[in-house]
Amino acid sequence: MLPHKQIELKLQAAVRAVLPDADVSAVLVRPCPDPKFGDYQSNALMSLAKMRKLNPRQLAAEVLAKLDVSEICEKVEIAGAGFLNFRLKPSALTQTLEAAARGEHLFFEKAASPKTAVIDFSSPNVAKPMHVGHIRSTILGGSLARTLRLLGHRVVTDNHIGDWGTQFGMLLLGWKHHLKPDALKSDPIGEMERLYKMVNATGEKMETVRDAAKQELVKLQSGDAENLKIWHEMIALSQKQFDTIYARLGVKFDHALGESFYNPRLKPLVDGLLANGIARESEGAIAIFFEDNPQLKSHPALIRKSDGGFNYTTTDLATLAYRLETWKPDEIIYVTDGRQQLHFQQLFAAFAKWMEGTTSSVPQNSGQRRSAVLQVKLAHVWFGSILGEDGKPFKTRSGETVKLADLLDEAEERAFKIVSEKSPELPEAQRHEIARVTGLGAVKYADLLPNRQSDYIFSWDKMLALNGNTAPYLQYAYARIRSIFRKSETSNVEHRTSNVELKAPEELALAKHLLDFGLTLEAVAEEYRPNFLCNYLFELAVKFNAFFENCPVLKAEEAVRGSRLALCDLTARVLRQGLDVLGIEVVEQM
Ligand code: ARG
Repeated sequence: MLPHKQIELKLQAAVRAVLPDADVSAVLVRPCPDPKFGDYQSNALMSLAKMRKLNPRQLAAEVLAKLDVSEICEKVEIAGAGFLNFRLKPSALTQTLEAAARGEHLFFEKAASPKTAVIDFSSPNVAKPMHVGHIRSTILGGSLARTLRLLGHRVVTDNHIGDWGTQFGMLLLGWKHHLKPDALKSDPIGEMERLYKMVNATGEKMETVRDAAKQELVKLQSGDAENLKIWHEMIALSQKQFDTIYARLGVKFDHALGESFYNPRLKPLVDGLLANGIARESEGAIAIFFEDNPQLKSHPALIRKSDGGFNYTTTDLATLAYRLETWKPDEIIYVTDGRQQLHFQQLFAAFAKWMEGTTSSVPQNSGQRRSAVLQVKLAHVWFGSILGEDGKPFKTRSGETVKLADLLDEAEERAFKIVSEKSPELPEAQRHEIARVTGLGAVKYADLLPNRQSDYIFSWDKMLALNGNTAPYLQYAYARIRSIFRKSETSNVEHRTSNVELKAPEELALAKHLLDFGLTLEAVAEEYRPNFLCNYLFELAVKFNAFFENCPVLKAEEAVRGSRLALCDLTARVLRQGLDVLGIEVVEQM
């Protein structure tokens, strides 16, 4: 077991011994923010003391009297208002590293009680190109899925594609009268987008066009064979283009149940909500009101329009119900941009009302069912916008939204130029592969690195730089370590049984940082913030470089050489695994 876990379990037991009725699940051990004071820290006793109106330092002293971590820690200290600071014994540190070197762990452990999480991400709309806004959802969602899976959780990824709605009236009208078959062949989504824009523009001026589009929509909704056939074709063409992008980004989905999948469930859902009084009519529409919720008081959720059409929220309620029935998740995570915050607040509030309503109308044995369903954690993981270097929404030079495919092409082209300047001696095919990995890695990393809730400025020069907190910097650190092994003329496997000896301060700093990998992964999963991992990996590369500059590896004497090669190997493995969680590949040589 990893040291911080051992400390945590022992601390929890000590707390239980002093406060038998305390909930110890929040008694956690985290890296100490300042290494001056220790390696790990717990601040849990302060909140426990506060809840019970105890003196926190006194509580800490009592807990400490029951705590024996002498096997792995030096003397434990009480600091400040009641923090506990732990410093590992050097032997505990080296043993952990040696076990990792032998491949027994990579500084993380699988969750003791795995949960099931559904992740709804990417979710582009049919007949529209995936644009730069979809990149954040795709990349963030993808890395959250990988993090949770690595930690041993069961993850169901679902692409909630926008394949139903009023836009299809216009698309069908355009398709029937203005379709250019050649254009459809060469760029299907571009052609569909053109049709939509054209009909939409004329519809704004001419009522007859609006009416004709509505007719097409009604026909589609009532199952007209021709319209259904065209609609299916539009979906298939879009899906094909999305799949090309997903393959390039290395993103896979377990399911892609689009909005249309839930269509048959919408009417019964609204009827049910009306019947049990959760929804009511208002000016011809049907809505759920949240009178008792100050934030949503003036924002009822519409679930049926006055013309009988259903809303985005209706589909999302049906989707939620389906997911609960089908996968019984503990958690559902929605990854979209910040402009959908109100929608998800309404959805979660409507869902809570719905569940209360249904469970209270099932009097027998309802307690169990109610808690099981209501305990699902719903999380809206939202993100800010991507801005151009002028601080305005990111656009092409001619003012259009940037298409994802073009963006990825440009990333690879720019990276190819950089690689060719830096390493002209490498064969062209290899330079292309390096450019693919670093170019795509740079775009992904630049997207994951900022706090997701802030906007960020898209800058090619910054994200592709070999110096700085970028993917190429991390990939370069990895390749550099691999080149050490090439030069050592040994494989990295040979050092896996070396004794680890930590003497130089740079070695110690690197070793301790390696130990925080698992804690970082857990923090990413808990707060849905892959940027924690980006910063962790950057720190790791910085610490590795300091170590490598100050501690000779290949020129060191035999015993030290083995230990240092083991450190190199562990760093490379953590870098590789960490980047993999972010969806970023590595190359052996750059
Ligand atoms: N298709 C939507 C859009 O492009 C995103 C859907 C997000 N998921 C959901 N369950 N509402 O804005």
